[in-house]
Amino acid sequence: MSILVTGGAGFIGSHACVELLDHGHDVVVADDFSNSFPRALDAVRRVTGRAVPAHAVDLRDAHGLDEVLGSHDISAVIHFAARKHVGESMSIPLEYYDVNIGGTISLLRAMAAHQVGRLVFSSSCSVYGDQYRRPITEDDPTAPVNPYARSKLICEQVIESACALTGLRALSLRYFNPAGAHPSGLLGESPRGAPSNVVPVLMKVAAGQLGKLTVFGADYDTPDGTAIRDYLHVMDVARAHRLALEHLEDAPGMRVLNLGTGTGLSVLELVRACEEACGADIPYVITDRRPGDVARLVADAGLARRAWGWHASHDVRSILRDAWRFEQMFPRGLGGSERDRGSE
Ligand SMILES: NC(=O)c1ccc[n+]([C@@H]2O[C@H](COP(=O)([O-])OP(=O)(O)OC[C@H]3O[C@@H](n4cnc5c(N)ncnc54)[C@H](O)[C@@H]3O)[C@@H](O)[C@H]2O)c1
Repeated sequence: MSILVTGGAGFIGSHACVELLDHGHDVVVADDFSNSFPRALDAVRRVTGRAVPAHAVDLRDAHGLDEVLGSHDISAVIHFAARKHVGESMSIPLEYYDVNIGGTISLLRAMAAHQVGRLVFSSSCSVYGDQYRRPITEDDPTAPVNPYARSKLICEQVIESACALTGLRALSLRYFNPAGAHPSGLLGESPRGAPSNVVPVLMKVAAGQLGKLTVFGADYDTPDGTAIRDYLHVMDVARAHRLALEHLEDAPGMRVLNLGTGTGLSVLELVRACEEACGADIPYVITDRRPGDVARLVADAGLARRAWGWHASHDVRSILRDAWRFEQMFPRGLGGSERDRGSE
């Protein structure tokens, strides 16, 4: 039996594949490579020494998805594939609803048709919105303030309906800010186009490929005025997915869990930590707030600890050290020519 990993060539998905393969699971990847490279899967094979069957498919392509599920014995799905940038979602909201919600509905239909009844879903702390000055628990009300976050919350609601109708068992993991890279340096965050998550941008500045970091807003209600986030190591996130799979049977229906460290860091604190980890100056410029951004998102990660004994085992130094190793080994990321695009 294999685990279908949608978006498995992406940043978090590829690290989750390593974790699953290292623990004896088989994986099958479905990814359209719209924000990743097949070379990420080569890295997964190299790190694990295991096979990674992969299909180049857009999740909204019902026929393509049916073929994937029909050609493997799938026991569960981990659903990473989505568009993920808050800022971009403000300018192309319909695309975000289409890919994120449309892709999820298409996947749920295919899973039902092939009697696959286990799902782990990638949700986001952004569903909580801009309302908390303290660590956020899963019971706190949601109030998304941008199309990306809304799309994630709607997906959770759609999945919950599917659970009620079909007996699907699902876990929605609300990640705070995954960052870092595999400790080997062979795998890391390597999007198509310019990076927009703060840690890969910091790496490009530290390496001298970018002149400076743009800090969006220094007038938030936080001690130094810059936005506070809860950064957690991508390998901790990957481990949580393996645990989620192992705990899907614990309860029927849909459950929600936060994945974070419980510790917040401002952008300027992150800049200083990065200067230390990389041994380089990080010039920055402060501009206006970015539409859709919020002041503070820090997890109360108590439920994951109580339920599974999961806690983040890496701190921000380890996140930045591993990201820096990947940056130095792959200064141009895992990309290459357009020839790399397509089926493995
Ligand atoms: N990285 C973060 O900071 C963060 C935080 C919270 C939640 N998440 C969620 O985690 C998941 C993974 O994030 P990531 O950082 O690895 O992003 P990513 O962009 O690196 O990975 C997403 C993968 O999905 C693929 N994909 C996108 N649309 C697709 C489609 N229609 N059909 C098939 N494949 C498609 C992309 O090619 C990519 O490989 C996403 O759902 C994201 O919303 C990420």
